[in-house]
This record gives sequence, C-alpha cells and structure tokens, in this order.
Amino acid sequence: MNIISVRGATTIEENKKENILERTEELLNTILDENKIEIKDIKSIIFTATEDITKVYPAVAARNIGITKAALMCVQEMHVEGSLPMCIRIMMDFQRRDKDPKLPIKHIYLHKASKLRPDLAESLAIAIDGPAGAGKSTIAKEVASQLGYVYIDTGAMYRAVAYYCKENSIDWKREEEVIGALKDIKIEIQIINEKQHIYLNKKDITDSIRNEEIASGASTVATYEKVRIELVRLQQELASKTSVVMDGRDIGTHVLPNANYKIFLTASVTERAMRRVQELEQNGQQVELKKIKEDIIKRDYNDSNRKFSPLSKAEDAIIVDTTGKSIKEVTDEVLNIIK
Ligand code: DC
Repeated sequence: MNIISVRGATTIEENKKENILERTEELLNTILDENKIEIKDIKSIIFTATEDITKVYPAVAARNIGITKAALMCVQEMHVEGSLPMCIRIMMDFQRRDKDPKLPIKHIYLHKASKLRPDLAESLAIAIDGPAGAGKSTIAKEVASQLGYVYIDTGAMYRAVAYYCKENSIDWKREEEVIGALKDIKIEIQIINEKQHIYLNKKDITDSIRNEEIASGASTVATYEKVRIELVRLQQELASKTSVVMDGRDIGTHVLPNANYKIFLTASVTERAMRRVQELEQNGQQVELKKIKEDIIKRDYNDSNRKFSPLSKAEDAIIVDTTGKSIKEVTDEVLNIIK
C-alpha cells in the first residue's frame, strides 16, 4: 500500500456559496474519476482559496459528496502580485492498494486554472461559425472566458485588410490591388485584459473596424483566395500555440477541420438585424433597421456563395439557434455541449 498525492485547481466566477461548492465538487469528482480513486481511500485533503473567496469553506463540498472520514483543512493561498484570482487549489493524499493497477497520476486543472499548468493542459480548439449577427463573438468571448481559453475573432482580420484599403485609398473591389497590398499588411493579435486587440502594422485598430462600411469591405476582401490563404495561415498559427475559441465563417470547415468541438450559431435575419442596430447605436452610430436587414441579407449571400471556403456548417458541427435566447442561455448551451 502506498500513499500518493494528486493536485488540482479550479476557479469560480463569483464569490458566492453555490458557485464555490459547485466548482469544488466538480474538481473533486474529476480528480476521483480521472484517477480511479475511491472515497474510502482518501486520507487527507488540503484546500487553499485566494483571499477573494470568503463565502464558504471549500471543504464543505467534500463533505457534500460523501468524503466524511478524510482529514480536511482549508487555508488561504499566499497572495502573489498578478496571480490568478478566485482560485481554489487542492492537494489530496490517497492510498493505492497493492492490487491496484499502476495508473499514472492525472493532476486536474479546470476553468481558468488551466492557465496555471499549461504543461498539463491539453490544448483544445473550439470552432464557432455562423452568419453575421448570430451572436458568435459575444458567445465565443464568454465561452473562452469561462474556460480560460484565448478568444480569436477571425472576422477582425478580414476587417483589418478592408481598413488598410480604406486608409490607403485602395478600392477593395479590385482584387489585384488588394492582393498587391497584402505584402504591406502585417496583422497581429494581442490579448490584453481578456480582450482581443488587433494591430495593423503596429497600430491598434480594434475600435476603428467596427462599422458597417468596414464590414462590407471585409465581406468583399474575404472572397479573394489569396487574402484567405494568408489569413488562414495566421489563424492556424495562433491556434497551434494555445487552447482557443475561434469564431468566423469557415473555422470548422477549413481553418481548424480537426477542432475538438464545432458549433454553428444561427438566428433569424430580423433578430440578427435588431442586434446589429443595438450594437451600432451603443457605439454612437445612428442606423436604420431596414437598411441593416438588407446589408445582412447581402452579406449572408456574399459569405455563403463565394468560391473559396464559403460560410457553411461543418458536417460534424452542432447547430445552436440563438433566436430569442439570452447570452447566458446560449453560453450554457454551448458549455454543455463542450462538457
Ligand atoms: O464576423 P465579422 O462581421 O467581423 O466578419 C467580417 C466579414 O469577414 C464577413 O463578411 C465574413 C468575413 N469572414 C470570413 O469570410 N471568414 C471568417 N473566418 C471570418 C469572417
């Protein structure tokens, strides 16, 4: 018989009793399942919580799932500047009986805690495709934040090419001119405070590309094969470095055909147009619903009928219709698919 230690960590979204207990139970159950540990074999568990967690002792979650005999202890994690907030860590000692097969120990890092041990975390890719206004970026951002993954908005890259054309008086309808300009376009993505910033030749253009004129230019340049080849290469490179949630039109079909999960978001044209109007009005732009609806129909047509990697659902993608649903409802639906 030998005593073995296993480590784990998770994060909570809010300092609330239910959230602390639910996430700690999930972590404990995952450690037990993944390592084939029986409750009677657990000897002791030390829980640590960051100083922003105050509503309940995580050890209560252990009692709730029947760990009643092991020695349990909760302490506060040492505070290090810049460290991950809202984090619960576990160190569990358990015994392996001599007859048990020799299993490798799996330390478990869930939610944003997966960032703590990138060496252990499996790198995963989640592809979210769908037409304009289906809620892709909102949902992809939320899902990425809950899982601690990096969110990559590929539409912003096509917008960046359109923005370059506009700034340099290049007519984006002239394919040859746009292709000729590609060598002068360097797009970079940086995640700052969980928000994606897009740089065009070192200039932060994140907010300047969010208008209907650039959206329409993006839809046009996205039909050019050479533009797509260049941007898809950049997207694949970003996804190869870390776990990502990537949204676009061809992620599941073309950019990441081997993505672990593929979601296709849809919503009715009217609902998508209404959402777009709201978003633009929030940005201080005055727009007409009828015009936005026409633009959306035009972009749907452009995106779905272009020659190179048109917008289409991957065969293995799961459709999620967002019409009439709240952000939380859709996020939960997607997270459930992933779980
Ligand atoms: O999602 P968005 O509105 O930011 O996208 C801008 C345009 O770029 C849209 O018309 C479709 C195109 N696009 C594409 O063709 N492929 C992608 N992966 C992402 C966007």
